[in-house]
Amino acid sequence: MFGEKKIDNPLEINIEMKNQLSRRKFLQTSAVAGTGVAIIPGAFPAYLKGADDRKINLGFIGTGLRGRSLMSLALRRNDCTVKAICDIDEKAIGASKKIIAKVWQAPPKVFSNGEEDYLNLLHEESIDAVIIATPWVWHVPMAVNSMKAGKYTAVEVCGATAIQECWDLVNTYEETKVPCMFLENVCYRRDVMAVLNMVRKGLFGELMHLEGGYQHDLRHVKFNDGIDPYGKGVEFGEKGYSEAAWRTNHSVNRNGDLYPTHGIGPIAQYLNINRGNRFLYLTSTSTKSRGLHDYIVNNEVGGKDHPNASVEFKLGDVITTVLKTQNGESIILSHDTNLPRPYSLGFRVQGTKGIWMDVNKSIYLEGISKDAHRWEPAEPYLEKYDHPLWKKYAAEASGAGHGGMDFFVLNAFIESVKRKTNPPIDVYDAATWMAITPLSEQSIATGSQAMPFPDFTKGKWMKNKNEFALNDDF
Ligand SMILES: NC(=O)c1ccc[n+]([C@@H]2O[C@H](COP(=O)([O-])OP(=O)(O)OC[C@H]3O[C@@H](n4cnc5c(N)ncnc54)[C@H](O)[C@@H]3O)[C@@H](O)[C@H]2O)c1
Repeated sequence: MFGEKKIDNPLEINIEMKNQLSRRKFLQTSAVAGTGVAIIPGAFPAYLKGADDRKINLGFIGTGLRGRSLMSLALRRNDCTVKAICDIDEKAIGASKKIIAKVWQAPPKVFSNGEEDYLNLLHEESIDAVIIATPWVWHVPMAVNSMKAGKYTAVEVCGATAIQECWDLVNTYEETKVPCMFLENVCYRRDVMAVLNMVRKGLFGELMHLEGGYQHDLRHVKFNDGIDPYGKGVEFGEKGYSEAAWRTNHSVNRNGDLYPTHGIGPIAQYLNINRGNRFLYLTSTSTKSRGLHDYIVNNEVGGKDHPNASVEFKLGDVITTVLKTQNGESIILSHDTNLPRPYSLGFRVQGTKGIWMDVNKSIYLEGISKDAHRWEPAEPYLEKYDHPLWKKYAAEASGAGHGGMDFFVLNAFIESVKRKTNPPIDVYDAATWMAITPLSEQSIATGSQAMPFPDFTKGKWMKNKNEFALNDDF
């Protein structure tokens, strides 16, 4: 039940499972919404301007594999309508329309007239909230424009291309006060949340050292045949499809931790980053680059004479980043996407009283574990300390992407919109976590020198309190 669930396979969602949240549960949560939650001044979703069915009208920008996966999840709920979709690829638009038609919703308004047409979607008055699932370089400009247009914004995960992008997110939020949620779903993984529960109950004592990362063999994602999203070829860029069309170019041109947030998100929650703690600096070190080249050369449809065999990939196969925090903890973050390896995010949580590691699914707690020098299985502890959110929503989450965690991240966003509250993962989290990418690139480029972290909260981290998943609300 608590096993690691492979992430980044957007096709995993069972589209046919449209057993909606019960009307009763929806009314219950709506009733809670009326009681004592902080209201965001300045943000007025259209549903508050007269409509009373309390459905959230969503616009999707980027309806590729991930966008459609989130769309399918939204359509399983009875409090969401997909009003508009935007993509530059007609195939993605067609596939999205089919998903929407299957649940008998009215056809969405379509924006497919080039790369800037998303701006027209943002001007649609009927849309309350926008979900952005485009290639990485679009995330910040789209999120910034969405906040400026007054839409509650949710943006998929990535690393920043430059520190300025992180400031753009924070500055736009501070100017507009329109909330923007960073959709880091691993914060909601069941074992990760059970361990958060244990951390907060003090079972590990005072935290000292944490590890995590993105350790996922993506060679079959970075290359394909231009038709199927996974494998069957060694093409990328204009000849690639889905992530091979854009993600691989980052491996050609950049050397750093390009995808830090699946690892750092949960760690930041354990350590209360931006809420009593902050990252001070990091150093990054890269191996040489071999995996992607070898994959092309050794692939049966590639070979040493294939044009892509002469491409030089800048991205080192394994990037190791060490971060230091204000409160004295150390973190090791790995980015490992080009070599043969089983999937693992490699979490380790270690404190003065014990240690959990997800790779060996094991735990040791001093004074509780019976044998002082032996690992014991983590499973019974993870079950005992199952997070209240998972206890409450396990049935609803069943069948949702990535072992159910996608249900929680979307639910948190939709509930934030309905209640007009700040989302649990905000622009300050997004900026801080995304900053790891350009900082790690700079560190590697300067011989692993330490790079100081900007304080995106401008000192507010000293009095902010961590409110992420404190109970079973959302
Ligand atoms: N959190 C997760 O578990 C998870 C899983 C998969 C992907 N992702 C993230 O989701 C994002 C999308 O990934 P994907 O796998 O769906 O990629 P994808 O290539 O399948 O989809 C991206 C879509 O964006 C469209 N697009 C590109 N430029 C556009 C523009 N200017 N306007 C409108 N549409 C545009 C493309 O045509 C494509 O359909 C990425 O940031 C990725 O890292 C997250």
